[in-house]
Amino acid sequence: MNSYLITGGAGFIGSYFTRYVSEKEKEAIIIVLDKITYAGDINRIKDLIDTKKIEFIKGDINDSVLIEKIVKENKINRIINFAAESHVDRSIESQREFIETNVMGVQTLLTASKKIWDENEINDVLFTQISTDEVYGSSNKDDNYKFNEKDLLNPMNTYSASKASAEHLITSFANTFNYDINIIRSTNNYGMNQNPEKFIPNIITRIINNDNILVYGDGKNKRCWLNVNDNCRAIYEIVNNKKNEIYNIKGNLEISNIDLVKRIIKIFEEDFKIKYKLEIKFIEDRKGHDYFYRVDDEKIKDELNFKIKTAFDKEISEIIKNYL
Ligand SMILES: NC(=O)c1ccc[n+]([C@@H]2O[C@H](COP(=O)([O-])OP(=O)(O)OC[C@H]3O[C@@H](n4cnc5c(N)ncnc54)[C@H](O)[C@@H]3O)[C@@H](O)[C@H]2O)c1
Repeated sequence: MNSYLITGGAGFIGSYFTRYVSEKEKEAIIIVLDKITYAGDINRIKDLIDTKKIEFIKGDINDSVLIEKIVKENKINRIINFAAESHVDRSIESQREFIETNVMGVQTLLTASKKIWDENEINDVLFTQISTDEVYGSSNKDDNYKFNEKDLLNPMNTYSASKASAEHLITSFANTFNYDINIIRSTNNYGMNQNPEKFIPNIITRIINNDNILVYGDGKNKRCWLNVNDNCRAIYEIVNNKKNEIYNIKGNLEISNIDLVKRIIKIFEEDFKIKYKLEIKFIEDRKGHDYFYRVDDEKIKDELNFKIKTAFDKEISEIIKNYL
């Protein structure tokens, strides 16, 4: 029986993953540790806490005494780290929290768990880091090269630099101490209950509230959109079948920001007969705005037979229905 520590489990993706594990492994011990920053929301997992399917502990991944206690008392053998400062715009305004959580926090998690795992002979242990496609840095506009898991990292903003730093700490820790790890680089996630500062919920709420939609620069920067349920299914397969591997996980929609806005406006019109009458405003570009992260997902397709199940337009329509 597995004993999971899911850090950042009250965040957007972490809460979906927590729910997925609690459904897949009814007997497993599942502890969520989350600091509940502005991005954390305990309501995302309240029903799981109330029905005792999981235990929630409010705390910081930088608290080594707390991590040691949790790992020891629950004989944790699976740590999956979702905890992070995750918004690029915030990392441009203020860098320190990004280093404290995304780098120092990871170092604390690694050191504290290793100490308990070494002292207590807990078997079959694995640390999985939820990273991002942003660690590769920006793709070129002029070629179609896709980043694969063997490429060197070239992060271009504080968020991605902090996530890349964490990856280097984790692989060096694995190499030095013979510690099993996985690293997972997902593309942009979407789904219900995402923080409204993120692009898709922002577009939807602006259409509903009759506000102008704001788009950075000329709107031609692209992103690859991955449904959060598909992402969590892939993460679960990796956590339970692989060790010491890196995987890209990508969605099946690669689209420019302006085309994404137009597509969501069209779904409002076709599915809900709501016509957007205001303006799409192009605002000053994000500083150092990465053009695109074009990633290759052949590895996860080949090795885990992974396939995307979610149809983007249908899912967005469901999300809009929920907002309305
Ligand atoms: N959202 C995306 O599109 C996306 C894409 C690729 C990778 N990722 C990665 O996936 C992970 C989860 O992303 P998300 O969108 O769910 O983020 P999120 O911002 O919604 O959630 C992060 C969670 O971590 C918690 N947290 C922050 N600092 C903490 C600390 N010091 N100790 C304990 N908990 C802390 C927050 O309270 C929050 O609940 C992140 O590591 C992110 O880098 C996200």
